[in-house]
Amino acid sequence: MQLRDLFLCLDIKEQLLIIFAGLLMVYFHFRKDKDPPGFPPGPPALPILGNIFNIDAKQPHIYLTKLADFYGNVFCIRLGRHKTVFVSGWKMVKEALVTQADNFVDRPYSPMVTRIYSGNSVGLFFSNGKVWRRQRRFAMTTLRTFGLAKESTEQSICDESQHLKDAMEKEKGEPFDPVPFLNNAVSNIICKIVFGRRFDYSDHNFQIMLSNLTEMAYLEGSIWALLYDAFPGLMKRLPGPHNRIFSSSKSLVASIREEIEKHKLDLDPNNPRDYIDSFLTKEKHNRNSHLGFEEENLVLCCLDLFLAGSETTSKTLQWGLIYLIMNPQIQCKVQEEIDRVIGQTRQPTMADKPNLPYTDAVIHEIQRMGNIVPLNGLRMAAKDTILGGYFIPKDTCLGELVLLSLSASKLLIDFLQRISLNDDPLVVFHASPPTSSSQTPGCLLASSPQTTSCVAPGPK
Ligand code: HEM
Repeated sequence: MQLRDLFLCLDIKEQLLIIFAGLLMVYFHFRKDKDPPGFPPGPPALPILGNIFNIDAKQPHIYLTKLADFYGNVFCIRLGRHKTVFVSGWKMVKEALVTQADNFVDRPYSPMVTRIYSGNSVGLFFSNGKVWRRQRRFAMTTLRTFGLAKESTEQSICDESQHLKDAMEKEKGEPFDPVPFLNNAVSNIICKIVFGRRFDYSDHNFQIMLSNLTEMAYLEGSIWALLYDAFPGLMKRLPGPHNRIFSSSKSLVASIREEIEKHKLDLDPNNPRDYIDSFLTKEKHNRNSHLGFEEENLVLCCLDLFLAGSETTSKTLQWGLIYLIMNPQIQCKVQEEIDRVIGQTRQPTMADKPNLPYTDAVIHEIQRMGNIVPLNGLRMAAKDTILGGYFIPKDTCLGELVLLSLSASKLLIDFLQRISLNDDPLVVFHASPPTSSSQTPGCLLASSPQTTSCVAPGPK
């Protein structure tokens, strides 16, 4: 009783302070998320909030790279009560995603994803288990059929590059922003594979779709998505950019649904024209809706193909322009090689690739320097696992930093500037993220047998 009276005598600030201190003590006392022995190290975290104030909201990967320098290639940060282990460096990422692929193949639960992909379907990127395996295999096969390995998409890419060139020429040599042009062209190629058609760059609905895609891809990869997943109950009620993730996804889903309805009107199961037709046909013949072959999931898989394919490729091209402008010597050599191998009168084909080793190396160096998806997609430990000597308990989230150190990239750029096209022999050093199959993690496109490579002079 005395204590209560004493408490009531305090002013409101003092009362709040005591309540907060009490909560902290309770938190520490009952803290169930104590790190088990052998858990990866990480920066000290505030109770309840974790490392939220340490992270640079604009460039979280820079902060994480600094942590890797300090704590080593396996470390942990906390957002709220969520612990995420990050692995850094080529060797450790390979250990997690290739050697221990089965242990880290699943994606973690995400409140943001659950809200976007409301219902039972989770599309391609965020699915797990049997559904993921089946949908990934189906997407790979379909992309190959309609596309990536078939002449038809090669032709679509060449046609689209002509549209891109025409649009840029309309600027008549005046300065212009190339980003919308590149977004239009890249998204049109995905449209061709998924919807079976391209859009005119001035098409109003197409432009709305693109701006929603850009917005969603940017916000999903930003600190806002991490914050939403760490504090869903709070973030749901707060104003802020994270809310645009949901409005953009809603609008994209509506556009995709419209396309699917159009496809259903003249679907010929014997002659599928694109990804949507193939999926609808599969849905008809296949009673395995539990493997994801149902219409709601088709909408989400299409959304994933656009999200995963367009911003990534467009950003790669944007970095390509920047790096080539900044390195005119390298630009000249690329042009020289293209002129020698392809000439000025025909368009390139994939068959030219083996004859363009310098250009190939420059493209891969652009991808490495551009670091388009710096944090990769989060994964989750399927069981208790040892990684880099540390203990990773089941269900722990795992992120990967694959970035080559900037100084190493600088060396490669110097090297690409110095090397002569006639240097002989050239050896290809495989220095790439691992290729993936329908059963292992990784980008859908990394399933190509051609690995990322860097060209270097051979031994004397
Ligand atoms: C330069 C362009 C691209 C880059 C840098 C890129 C990068 C990535 C990365 C880092 C992942 C996550 C891998 C993981 O979690 O382990 C991914 C996954 C994925 N990418 Fe790509 N990507 C590109 C182009 C494309 C294109 C053009 C498509 C499709 C048309 C595509 C479809 C996908 C899909 C569907 C996934 C999810 C795969 C899964 O979870 O099984 N990507 N990509």
